[in-house]
Amino acid sequence: MALLKILHYPDERLHKVAKPVGQITSATRKLIRDMAETMYAAPGVGLAATQVDVHEQIFVSDISEDHNELRVFINPKLISSTGVEECEEGCLSVPGVYEKVQRCERITVQAMNEKGETFTLEADGFLAVCIQHEMDHLKGKVFVEYLSQLKLSRIKAKLKKRQREAM
Ligand code: NI
Repeated sequence: MALLKILHYPDERLHKVAKPVGQITSATRKLIRDMAETMYAAPGVGLAATQVDVHEQIFVSDISEDHNELRVFINPKLISSTGVEECEEGCLSVPGVYEKVQRCERITVQAMNEKGETFTLEADGFLAVCIQHEMDHLKGKVFVEYLSQLKLSRIKAKLKKRQREAM
């Protein structure tokens, strides 16, 4: 296994739209294992392939405290969504930034796991937020883009300053 490099906002590659996975190969399964390892090491609760510069519709998530509930989503589709909720979100691609974003409260999503089996999952609460956040990554959208232009430009300035200081 290997740790993957996570792209940081405002890297343009975070705006690429991911393509559906055709066949699940051993390379796909290796990517998924590496993504899970990278997410746990960060540590984070979700990671989309887009964030590691692979533009295929794959994300992993684990919101458990013990890191023993890994979920793999390949070619996820939102089947239904209801309600509205607001939750503070963060993102491994936007380190140190936590902001409230409006999401659907309850969703039903259909996807494939790493074995190629299709499953349907009903989710609410934090898991629903996490799934919507990761599905956005696959569409090239980062959560801070839901914020006002003013907030977004402040965040960009903060991140650029931090990147300069890190060099
Ligand atoms: Ni994210």
